[in-house]
Amino acid sequence: MKVVEFKDVYKFFGNTVALDGVSFSMPQGLSLLLGPNGSGKSTAINIMAGLIRQDRGYVKVLGEDPRDVNREGRRVGFLIEKYWFYDFLTGYDHLMLAAKILGLSEPEIHVKKVLKVVQLSEYAHKAVGTYSKGTLQKLAIAHALLGDPELIVLDEPFANLDVETSASLMNLINELVREGRSVLVSTHVLSHFKELRAGHAVLLHKGKVMCEVELGNIMRVLEKTVVVRGEPLEAIYRALKLAGFRCFTVEDKVLVKVSHHEELQEIIKALKGIKVVDVRSGVLEIEDLLNLLVDEDEINSRGS
Ligand SMILES: Nc1ncnc2c1ncn2[C@@H]1O[C@H](COP(=O)(O)OP(=O)(O)OP(=O)(O)O)[C@@H](O)[C@H]1O
Ligand SMILES: [Mg+2]
Repeated sequence: MKVVEFKDVYKFFGNTVALDGVSFSMPQGLSLLLGPNGSGKSTAINIMAGLIRQDRGYVKVLGEDPRDVNREGRRVGFLIEKYWFYDFLTGYDHLMLAAKILGLSEPEIHVKKVLKVVQLSEYAHKAVGTYSKGTLQKLAIAHALLGDPELIVLDEPFANLDVETSASLMNLINELVREGRSVLVSTHVLSHFKELRAGHAVLLHKGKVMCEVELGNIMRVLEKTVVVRGEPLEAIYRALKLAGFRCFTVEDKVLVKVSHHEELQEIIKALKGIKVVDVRSGVLEIEDLLNLLVDEDEINSRGS
């Protein structure tokens, strides 16, 4: 079963084409919606949440119209990009309110459970107005998990979270998937998913689907690309080309294709005498990944 399906979906905001004929389908398990800022991720998620309606095309969530899917019980939980809470209510109150609106039986049990899962119990009885951004984000994630939905859709859940909290969120996502839940995460930061191999990824760019691939393939590209920053960039590029590396310049950096980690040392050697600011692997940004994909057919299963 596909948990989310988009078929030839268009969404316009005035003259802006936020979604430009988008088709993809997310299977059960973990799925990622990747793309740089403004690529249409939140628009797609807001359509899934039934907050806005597509102008053309069709969208199914768990096989249903987005506006019907939660009609008979909590099947999908969302963390939307622009969530909002009352400053004067506590986190606990918000979740209780939500649990009652959702019609959950034994709301208290549900609320306590999600508070614990996101490690928010300590702040539960404080007014939301006193929360830090990270704590607010945890509350919004708790809200998405309320009622044990089959599918959890999280729009940029790592925003505002420090390294430690991001790591525990990643564990939580893994745990949910292991339990048999489906989780769809949108992000423009690839590095959170570095450790993951299993999952499905859709890459959006300017409202279009660039590719639909297995996460493992993206992560292999991530591992096999070294990013070099320094100046003059042209000298870096020439030195690496001369040393026989496959590389190209993107904005303020040179991307170098390598086949194994030891090549990092060879790269550094080749750059002797040039002012190199940074040489790193595994730090590819979505934009870089897009460039790699545009440059050549790096990912074999490109297209759907
Ligand atoms: N309500 C709106 N009114 C006008 N334009 C909008 C609206 N929502 C989105 N857009 C535009 O649609 C495009 C896609 O935006 P969207 O928020 O879906 O991107 P995104 O991939 O979520 O970006 P980000 O990573 O910054 O969250 C952008 O050009 C954005 O300015
Ligand atoms: Mg967004």
